[in-house]
Amino acid sequence: MSTYRNCKRGVAGPMIGYVMSSLLLAAGASAAPGGPTGNGNENQIQKGNESQVQKGFEISPIPLSQLNMAGKNPALVGMGSYLVNSSGCNDCHTHPAYAPGGNPFQAQPEQVNVGQYMSGGRTFPPSPFVSANLTPDALGKPAGLTFAQFRETLRTGHNPLDPPGALLQIMPWPAFGKKTDGDLRAIYEYLSAIPSLPDNPNPSPEP
Ligand code: HEC
Repeated sequence: MSTYRNCKRGVAGPMIGYVMSSLLLAAGASAAPGGPTGNGNENQIQKGNESQVQKGFEISPIPLSQLNMAGKNPALVGMGSYLVNSSGCNDCHTHPAYAPGGNPFQAQPEQVNVGQYMSGGRTFPPSPFVSANLTPDALGKPAGLTFAQFRETLRTGHNPLDPPGALLQIMPWPAFGKKTDGDLRAIYEYLSAIPSLPDNPNPSPEP
């Protein structure tokens, strides 16, 4: 009856093993084909994008030492950080987005709220929607989604784990869904590497 999605759901999904066969160290290297999508193209970082990869590591609020790089393609993680941390995901998916005294909108030196980084919990009254926890679940899947599910969600606004017809209502998927497969793959890789957190315990509107 309603096309609104159910905002709270468990993350238990089908067991999908990662098939990343090796940790590739050179920037610009691609992960082995046959990864979560079966299509290796999106695992490649274009030549000339090394500065974005570098910038991504510089601007990640989670330092490299605290990113889970096991089985990850480092260039993809760096590119993903660049895309996530320059696209405003934090504004809605970290709540509150900034640490006390670190709110750039109040002319304070910016300090992201790393303790709740990407754990969701921002509400958007009067709507019933709550931003989702995008951190990795127990199986390492961001928001409990495989890459194929993640891509479909951003492309179409419909999370295939939700009831038919449900559409994300707040999330700017019509814009983010226009990114290339490679960009979405990089975002997914970075979100797979950040620390896993339970859902934000204090859902509320923007302070
Ligand atoms: C304007 C606020 C806003 C921004 C910016 C935003 N999101 Fe969201 N996002 C939401 C909300 C709210 C939801 C939950 C459902 C909805 O929109 O109805 C959501 C849901 C999602 C989901 C689906 C999770 C699930 O469990 O179904 C994914 C994946 C996601 N966002 C990724 C991102 C990424 C990646 C970015 C940055 C590129 C981003 N979001 C930026 C508000 C936002």
